[in-house]
Amino acid sequence: MAENTKTAPEAKPAEKVTPPASSNHRTLQVSILRYNPADSESVPHLQTYQVSETDSMTLYILLNELRDTQDPSLQFDFVCRAGICGSCAMLVNGKPALACRTLTRDLPDHFTLAPLPGFELIGDLSVNTGKWMRGMSERIQAWCHVNEEQINFNKIEKPMDPKLAEDIYLLDRCVECGCCVASCGNFRMRPDFVGAVAINKISRFRLDPRDHRNDADYYEVMGTESGVFGCMTLLACHDFCPKDLPLKTQIAFIRRKMAEQGITGKEKRTLKRVVPLRELKLD
Ligand code: SF4
Ligand code: SF4
Ligand code: FES
Repeated sequence: MAENTKTAPEAKPAEKVTPPASSNHRTLQVSILRYNPADSESVPHLQTYQVSETDSMTLYILLNELRDTQDPSLQFDFVCRAGICGSCAMLVNGKPALACRTLTRDLPDHFTLAPLPGFELIGDLSVNTGKWMRGMSERIQAWCHVNEEQINFNKIEKPMDPKLAEDIYLLDRCVECGCCVASCGNFRMRPDFVGAVAINKISRFRLDPRDHRNDADYYEVMGTESGVFGCMTLLACHDFCPKDLPLKTQIAFIRRKMAEQGITGKEKRTLKRVVPLRELKLD
């Protein structure tokens, strides 16, 4: 357990002192799962620190304070501090959340932090979600498939209907944080499951008129047990998505479209647009 190195403040001279915004700040006990896989001597263990809570403190602020004042060896990730980059996801009392969007005032006096399960552990709270997301994106080909014959750089781009642009944007807000994957029981049982993040992306490209893939093409990646038919619809992904993406609606929609395609075979695969699938590599 790390020592709290704070000493009693010296008596101030009788001059103007700004009162603290709130006088009922707590001393938080934070238990963090520590483990460094790069160090052969390292053993997974919980380490408890004490931190003085401040006004509007987020877990991001708390962890930086901890690293600055108590333990520079603590590993965790962050970039944007604003819920945009998706890199600070971790388990907070066992539930996936973004550290920069979690206020300590919403947590009890004593809580635990652990790395997201299911991803390669870099150390302590830091996991390699980027590697997994890249594998998933390559597997489902998460980019706009435009017919090459139709590309004409001299042609003026057609404006998109604002309502459609908004619908696409709604699904495009995914920050690839991994909370949906980490909370997915099915993913824990079958690591080749594409996850709600991939189903949402397929839904996004399916909406996009610039993408010429059809349901037969999407069936190649989604119409299997490792695709949407493997989903057990318990919807933890929906509950824990920090960007409030409508995952339950997208899962239901893609499942219906893939079932329709599987039963009727109404679309024909556009072979030139389908790249051979690769297995999802987790290590
Ligand atoms: S769908 Fe939500 S939980 Fe899943 S990666 Fe995207 S933002 Fe994170
Ligand atoms: S609803 Fe499907 S994708 Fe979401 S957590 Fe459950 S099994 Fe995973
Ligand atoms: S630091 Fe970017 S989402 Fe939290």
